[in-house]
This record gives sequence, C-alpha cells and structure tokens, in this order.
Amino acid sequence: MELIEILEALNRTHGPSGDEGGIRGKIEELARPFADEIVTDTLGNLIVHKKGAGPKVMFAAHMDSIGFIVTHIEKEGFLRVGRLGGISPKEAAYSAVRFKNGVRGVFVPEEKADFSKLKLDECFIDIGAADEAEAKTLVQVGDTCVYDGPVRVQGSRVTAPYLDDRLACAVLLCALERIKEPAYNLSLVFTVQEEVGLRGARTAAWWVDPDICVAVDVTDVDDTPGSEKNGTARLGGGAAVKVMDSSVICHPEVVAKLEEIAKSQSIPIQRDIMRSGGTDAGAIQNAHYGVKTGGVSIPCRYIHTPAETADLRDAEACVRLVTAFAQT
Ligand code: CO
Ligand code: ZN
Repeated sequence: MELIEILEALNRTHGPSGDEGGIRGKIEELARPFADEIVTDTLGNLIVHKKGAGPKVMFAAHMDSIGFIVTHIEKEGFLRVGRLGGISPKEAAYSAVRFKNGVRGVFVPEEKADFSKLKLDECFIDIGAADEAEAKTLVQVGDTCVYDGPVRVQGSRVTAPYLDDRLACAVLLCALERIKEPAYNLSLVFTVQEEVGLRGARTAAWWVDPDICVAVDVTDVDDTPGSEKNGTARLGGGAAVKVMDSSVICHPEVVAKLEEIAKSQSIPIQRDIMRSGGTDAGAIQNAHYGVKTGGVSIPCRYIHTPAETADLRDAEACVRLVTAFAQT
C-alpha cells in the first residue's frame, strides 16, 4: 500500500491515549499479510514480529494521539473536558472534534476568556445538544474525542491532525512490506500512551527485550518564521537521525549505523536534536540492563495542532532508512 493511503486509513481511526482499540485493530489488519506473528501485550501495545536470525531489533512508533476526555456535562448540554497529552486550548480553539461513536462537535473558548492566557477550563465542546439530557444520549463522562480533520496533500506536503505519530506508523507499515530479508529478529511495535508519558513503550521494551531499538516519531523543526529553535530539522531535508531529545541521548553506535547506511544507500538525512519534548526512545533505552537506542524522525511543523504538516519525501526517506537498517 502507498504511504498516503495508509495515513488516510489511520487518520480516520479513533485512538487517543488510553483508548487505542480502534487504531490497534486497523494497524493489525494492515500488518497481518506481512507479519510472522502479531501479539498485543498487557497494556495494549501491538507487537508485530518478522523473524530473522541474529540479535533482536525493535522499531517503535506510538499509535496513540492527543485528545480530550469528557469530565462534565453541563445543564445547557455543553461538555467540559480534560486533556490527554500535550493538547493546548489555544491551538485547539474552534477545531472540529469527533468521538469514537461518530458524534461530532467543536471545541470553543468562552467569549469572555483572554485568548492570550487561554485555559482549558475556559473552553467547552459544543455537540449540538439542547440540554444535559440530550447530551447524555450522545456521550458520557470518560468518553474521548480527537481532532476531526482530513489528510490534505499538496505537492509533496501533507497536512493532517495526527501526523504525530500516525505518519511514523505508516512508515513502519510500509517498511514491513518492503523488508524481504531481515538481518535480525525484528519486532515492529506500535505503542500506546506515548503522549501521556511514554507509558506503553516502557512495558513493550520489557516484553520484546531488544538488543537495539529505533524509535520512529515526528520531530520539531527550525524552518518557519519566528522559530523558537527547539528543533534542528527542516522539511524536505530528508530523514532526521536523532541525536538527542529531552528524554534520550541516542547510543552513538546506533546513530553511526543509521548514518552509514544512509550514506551507502544515498538516502537523504539530517541530524535531529529536540531541546524539549521526548519520545518512546527515552523509555526504551532504560529497559532491562539498557537498550542501544536511537531514533529516526520525520520533520513536522505545528506539532500537536490540527494542522501538523510534513513532507512525504522525508517520510519516504524514513521508510528507506528503516528498511535498510532492518536488512543490514
Ligand atoms: Co506527540
Ligand atoms: Zn509523537
């Protein structure tokens, strides 16, 4: 399947942190024809095995997304919500949202709220209910919702709400299809609850017990007006080889191997450092007696907004790099 087709299928599927059943089912369906074995661990991580001789190599991409969870239903039928992961009320203002059961709504700030200091408690979700009783026929406390936006493509650029980290899930699924002769005993792991603190990756790393791990995620960029220079990557610059983020300093052997493979296969790469923000790599590195861990990152603008934007040429470079790593 084409990367963009996979991304579209994943974008339509519900899967905020803690409620990944839908997205897990979709990924399992897409992985099944190319996998030797698929298991779901206790926390819900999906572990796809592709058997080979040699050490255990794990690739990880998180399948959960940021979102909101209903905490109160008001008399007038509006919903108040808590956050799942780093979702900002300012960035979410006036966005369309969607619940697992298909109910749609909009996330709106109160008119009197000071937008520059907008707090989550000053926002509500309008699902079109006339009152509390009608709202309760549509959703209940504990239900979760996500951004309800399409995947838009223009040239090589793609914009969608959950490139973090559905684009990386699509990268791993494409690589799985292309890996013909694995040089390792491979596990491609689609983790849960990354956005709430790398929780799934922690147990998945114990389950798989890898010798080497490469986490695949989006990374912050330094290529837009007024950039805060949190990241180093730029769109169109190739696959970003992680050196460091706030959760991990990558193992030098893994960084070197990724860079050597890219050189020998003429895969465009750039170096990735995020001065704030972590990835599954941070949790995996510390499992057992330690795991040699690195990362392959897809440069992405406007992370955690409904308009996350990446370049499909970079994603393709990541597919090639992951595929080559698995076979070298
Ligand atoms: Co994220
Ligand atoms: Zn991510």
